[in-house]
Amino acid sequence: MTSFQKRVFSGVQPTGTLHLGNYLGAIKNFVELQKEFECIYCVVDQHAITVEQNPKELRSNTLEVLASFIAAGVDYKKQIIFQQSSVAEHSQLAWVFNCVSRIGWLNRMTQFKDKAGKNRENVSVGLMVYPNLMAADILAYLATHVPVGDDQKQHLELSRDIAQKFNNDFKVDFFPLPEPLIYGNATRVMSLRDGTKKMSKSDASELSRILLTDSDDDISSKIRKAKSDSDLIPEDKDQLQNKHECLNLINILSACLDQSIEKTLAGYAGKEYSKLKNDLADTLIQVVGPVRKEIRNLLDNKDELNKILQVGSEKASTIAGPIIKEVYKIVGFR
Ligand code: TRP
Repeated sequence: MTSFQKRVFSGVQPTGTLHLGNYLGAIKNFVELQKEFECIYCVVDQHAITVEQNPKELRSNTLEVLASFIAAGVDYKKQIIFQQSSVAEHSQLAWVFNCVSRIGWLNRMTQFKDKAGKNRENVSVGLMVYPNLMAADILAYLATHVPVGDDQKQHLELSRDIAQKFNNDFKVDFFPLPEPLIYGNATRVMSLRDGTKKMSKSDASELSRILLTDSDDDISSKIRKAKSDSDLIPEDKDQLQNKHECLNLINILSACLDQSIEKTLAGYAGKEYSKLKNDLADTLIQVVGPVRKEIRNLLDNKDELNKILQVGSEKASTIAGPIIKEVYKIVGFR
């Protein structure tokens, strides 16, 4: 029953207000992809609880991620946007995959090693089997293409290994091997305080990130205070190799303007940072401002958001239901 149709699946965790890195690195691409593909976008709340969450915040973060998808331009009427925990097929397939995937494979996951650190004996089992659930998310829809950032490439490879092993073990040609879709310009938006670290919601400094809910003043002041150096802006890209902060600002501006780094750099070569920062702040206000306003409008009407989630879950189940039925037959449950 392998589907040869192209289908995109991706997930975002509801673990805090989304920032510019999530927007330029993921959600903007989600919007582009709907022109070409059938797209399924999921708020992965089951992934979120692999580490401790405050239940009230988890719920409000789920609605905030949903609102951010819609505000950024994901068409919830044409595509599917929904919440993972509402569609039982994810958990059902994840259990089957827990039995297909190997402990050795999970032990090699660098994200698990980083997150568990020295605390390995005391992290949740969920944190370890998290990539199996991710594989289930994708394969419950026989999705063929998965937009992912750098940090998720290894997990996607594991999804392919699981799909392959399932097909081999049960001598079927059932699951497709999902392909990564690598993002354009700003795959990696870095911290505004340290150009070697990714922009992250967990960074202690508020100044390190721009949130999609930041006011115009917040945006200006964070960009003004962004780390830079006392040189003039260099002429070519090679000279940016060790100027991580400069590269990051140029990269963000390029992504906002949908143009190459070279082209952006040409406009600032030999100039002072203040010019770049002023232009970047203005551009970001134009890009983030309308998204922020729309997020706020949407969050003012929670009933509507809940309805959108419900319709999305129903559409998702309609696809995943029959696929899981087939899986149950293949493994001998039915
Ligand atoms: N693990 C992803 C992250 O933390 C989120 C995710 C869960 C996901 N399921 C997915 C991404 C399926 C792509 C496809 O960013």
